[in-house]
Amino acid sequence: MNGAILSGLLTGGVEADRVVATARSSASARRSAEQYGVQVLAEEESTGANAEAAGKADVIFLGVKPPQIVDLCHQIASSLKPSAVVVSVAAAVTVEMMEEALPAGQPVIRTMPNTPLSVGAGVVGLVPGTHTSQEQVESVAELLGTSGAVHVLDEEQIDALTGVAGSGPAYAFYLAEHMAAAGVEMGLDPELAADLAAQTIYGAGKMLVENRGENDAAQLRRDVTSPRGTTSRAIETFDAAEMGRTIRQGAQASAARAAEITRQLRGDAA
Ligand SMILES: NC(=O)c1ccc[n+]([C@@H]2O[C@H](COP(=O)([O-])OP(=O)(O)OC[C@H]3O[C@@H](n4cnc5c(N)ncnc54)[C@H](OP(=O)(O)O)[C@@H]3O)[C@@H](O)[C@H]2O)c1
Repeated sequence: MNGAILSGLLTGGVEADRVVATARSSASARRSAEQYGVQVLAEEESTGANAEAAGKADVIFLGVKPPQIVDLCHQIASSLKPSAVVVSVAAAVTVEMMEEALPAGQPVIRTMPNTPLSVGAGVVGLVPGTHTSQEQVESVAELLGTSGAVHVLDEEQIDALTGVAGSGPAYAFYLAEHMAAAGVEMGLDPELAADLAAQTIYGAGKMLVENRGENDAAQLRRDVTSPRGTTSRAIETFDAAEMGRTIRQGAQASAARAAEITRQLRGDAA
């Protein structure tokens, strides 16, 4: 996810020499420095690397796993500029958890991004913290907006956004896997089948985005489904297997898992 955010920012015009990243291991720091052309400090080499990088920054993206976010906030707390905005990309970690671990009054933003940010087609849900000004929200939204669609929303909605968009790219990849597998089962070369699936999902996604507001997904689907035709037979098969319901259940399970992790992090899991 961090690579996706970083490449999105760099493609969107942030200058590489204005970015300092950190990683845990030296090997990973070296790899990322080569890949993205930015300075990457390794926590393994110098235990103050996170604090050092954060202390110089106006905007700090925290991209460790959810259970490590609060520790990382404690680690960088004393070196932060009071006006620096601390942005988390972690699922399940609330604004309150971050604010409690940072100096009083520190501006905080909770986000839920998705990996298509790396190709300029991501989605980011953004929840402002208690001490975050409108100007700071706009500036982080502008930063992320160069590589995706940014939606500012209430924190109660962020798990739903996770279920639809944070985890969503995996649903599209899952669909591509099975479309390609069907092609192979029908005798296509695996590479050709994978290309057909990828390009079809890409093209359909582009149509969806470009037609938004005029035709929703259901209308676009109806437009390409002639009665008693080939597509119609496929959709009947999906409906018979209640695929629509299964997809809704999957997205809801993702959101429920995010809420469950929040409870675990707070230590009040059932
Ligand atoms: N994956 C997704 O699609 C997605 C979507 C939305 C949000 N997120 C959120 O993104 C975050 C990262 O997820 P991920 O899947 O990208 O994880 P990941 O691949 O494991 O990346 C975590 C990175 O954090 C670094 N790191 C760990 N501990 C560190 C420390 N103490 N100091 C400095 N760097 C440290 C790791 O460095 P090393 O490489 O050296 O280990 C690694 O580069 C999570 O909070 C997740 O909830 C992920």
